[in-house]
Amino acid sequence: MKSNIPIDGNRLWSDLMAIAEITEDGIPYTRRSFSPLFIEGRRWLRQKFEEAGLEVRTDAAGNLIGRLPGSRPEAGTIMLGSHSDTVPSGGRFDGVAGVIAALEIVRSLRASGKPLQHSVEIVDFLAEEPSEYGLSCVGSRGMAGLLEDSMLRYKNGAGEQLGQAIERVGGDISRLAEAKRDDVIAFLELHIEQGLVLEAKRIDLGVVTAIVGIARVEICLEGRADHAGTTPMELRQDASVVAAHLITEIAAQAKTQAQKGDGHFVATTGIVEVSPNAANVVPGRVRLVVDIRAEKPGATQAFIDWLNLRSQSMADAANVKRPGWSVLSHTDPALCHAEMQAMLAGAAEMLGFSTLHLASGAGHDAAFISRIAPSAMLFVPCLDGRSHAPEEWAEPSAIAAGAAVIYETLLKIDGASALS
Ligand code: GLV
Ligand code: MN
Ligand code: MN
Repeated sequence: MKSNIPIDGNRLWSDLMAIAEITEDGIPYTRRSFSPLFIEGRRWLRQKFEEAGLEVRTDAAGNLIGRLPGSRPEAGTIMLGSHSDTVPSGGRFDGVAGVIAALEIVRSLRASGKPLQHSVEIVDFLAEEPSEYGLSCVGSRGMAGLLEDSMLRYKNGAGEQLGQAIERVGGDISRLAEAKRDDVIAFLELHIEQGLVLEAKRIDLGVVTAIVGIARVEICLEGRADHAGTTPMELRQDASVVAAHLITEIAAQAKTQAQKGDGHFVATTGIVEVSPNAANVVPGRVRLVVDIRAEKPGATQAFIDWLNLRSQSMADAANVKRPGWSVLSHTDPALCHAEMQAMLAGAAEMLGFSTLHLASGAGHDAAFISRIAPSAMLFVPCLDGRSHAPEEWAEPSAIAAGAAVIYETLLKIDGASALS
């Protein structure tokens, strides 16, 4: 670990490994949003925020926020953060590395005695990963004023509404409008790359140019559940066969779109629920959730339009109904702030780290915060590009390097008259 950096990389690492221990037994590393373990993780974070001397609160959208007031609070807030929730059986770095790095940056700032004009806030955004309620980036949507009433009514498998779940973790949906911010003058998020580029090119850190737009579409197909032994093949209305063909076509269509060379484009059928899911019953019902991501605006909508027509025509051809079609969420791609990108690259150069500019194929809270404030992201390389898996790994020195670059960038922003 470099010794000339302005933060304590060992303390950062030890906190990161400590919160990783708050995981479901036997399924490392799992801390699903809204779960008892998520709440336990938040308790741990709150204590760390308090020990760092921050004023801690949970906003109406359920974001955990630690605040260090500046000498000129009217100058606005510089915000740092990411998310502490994980996918099922995820890693120790996705999201939480950005929260713990932010904590370390603020601790180091306080220890340095450097006065700051702006207030600084660390945020653990609520439910960045797709939650059990079918929505991701719940807290950052709330902070951007984009958490719609219809979304608050989405239900989990137990019938609890998202709005109720937000209140269960300390939010207040009757005051949701108060979560929307207009005082943030800059937002910075450190995150692992979740890809292979930096490692392959042996680059220390990545400066993110843009974050893909993401749409999630739910499709329900309904055929007829029948006896699997006695129903002749030509008389079946097997919803799973339509689903299987549709999944294959989605992948092929996405590949064709990606090969056009018009920016990053991917589509994934990540949820497939077959009912009744029994070996001797012709599947009567299938629920699919398709995740579509594009760097260029417009590409996602074109794919959604194709999927709408194609799923209906395939269902019709197989005498299967399509009672469910719903665009659960659809966000446009987000551009990172150009001046802040240059500041990150400049700070990295000053500290002796190489950088590369690259787009993010993963979704991030910064995509929503960029709708209300200049936002930028810094990527830390991760081993083999692995993420959303327990094997996810980033070197302690790489995370410390990223935190140090954000520390210096924060100081620069604090001293600058204004971002353009
Ligand atoms: C967030 O992890 C995503 O799905 O990109
Ligand atoms: Mn993730
Ligand atoms: Mn993440």
